[in-house]
Amino acid sequence: MKIHSALSHHLAWVLLALLTVTAYAKDEPAPVSAKLANVRILATGGTIAGTGATSTTTVGYTAAKVGVEQLIEAVPALKQVANVTGEQVFQIASENMTDEYWLKLAKRVNTLLAQDDVDGIVITHGTDTLEETAYFLNLVVKSHKPVVLVGAMRPSTAMSADGPFNIYNSVVLAASPDSANKGVLVCLNDQINAARDVTKTNTTSLDTFRAPELGFLGYMQSNKPHFYRLPARKHTVDTEFDVSKLEALPKVDIVYGYANVTRTPVDALVAAGAKGIIHAGVGDGSIHNAVKPALIEARQKGVIVVRGSRVGNGIVARNGEANDDELDFVVSDTLNPQKARILLMLALTKTNQTSEIQRMFYTY
Ligand code: SIN
Repeated sequence: MKIHSALSHHLAWVLLALLTVTAYAKDEPAPVSAKLANVRILATGGTIAGTGATSTTTVGYTAAKVGVEQLIEAVPALKQVANVTGEQVFQIASENMTDEYWLKLAKRVNTLLAQDDVDGIVITHGTDTLEETAYFLNLVVKSHKPVVLVGAMRPSTAMSADGPFNIYNSVVLAASPDSANKGVLVCLNDQINAARDVTKTNTTSLDTFRAPELGFLGYMQSNKPHFYRLPARKHTVDTEFDVSKLEALPKVDIVYGYANVTRTPVDALVAAGAKGIIHAGVGDGSIHNAVKPALIEARQKGVIVVRGSRVGNGIVARNGEANDDELDFVVSDTLNPQKARILLMLALTKTNQTSEIQRMFYTY
């Protein structure tokens, strides 16, 4: 009797195990919610929409070829995690990004997020300037709803293309209530990053998006986001920036510091009408003696000078490698030069006061 009971118990476990294996062996994940979120995919181009000559072409392909409907069709599992609709906002390789494209995208995002029938947005984007678009939107989107930027390092035609799974994860992320109020997110390679801190760190590797030293926010795993950190700086609804009526942004450019540098780029940019210059200095934002007089003269002409660093990590210390109070310069805090440019452009839509602009660099 005892043996009979032990056998039935054992058989029950074998049956349960078999059923579980069958359930997990299905090609597509089970629906995560009976009432699916409405996620709009805004496509803008990039490698994620790129095509190559062969399945092994991972360099020398053409970005921005495949349309949004094809991107969605390539991931049938999307239907199980959200009600997905697509829209082609523009179709470019992201090295050709402009302030005008950003304004167009930001206005569209704000219009959509104001609608009750949109719960979250995924933006497919080239990886080259993805971090910049993400930070721009992080400062100008006026909604708590999730906005996720996604790209791919391999074109859609490549063997083991990373785009489809990145899109799948991003839609899951945008559909999740856990993603609300966290600013604009970046999702590639199973990692969730904050727009302010993320940067592209490798020219071709799939694991290129990192927030060096500060760290990413969480992982995508088993069809859901797992968050471990939150963005500390203000974003989206808590910023003072409003692009709804803007047709253009103030001209801000970047000059790079290096050995033997001359003042020529600074002078040329001021002559071309720059309203702000980000100096990507060496070390803790140090400026070559050959360039400093050009920046001082630029400031005297009304140009805002931000002392940044080409290093990639760390705080540029105010009044450290230059007397910023005396020179009336601003420091970039931890923003890399390309993101400092974005914040300065938006700051200049509100004020020309360096004390106010410095406050913004310590706030966002
Ligand atoms: C681009 O940024 O459009 C090309 C490169 C990429 O998406 O990886």
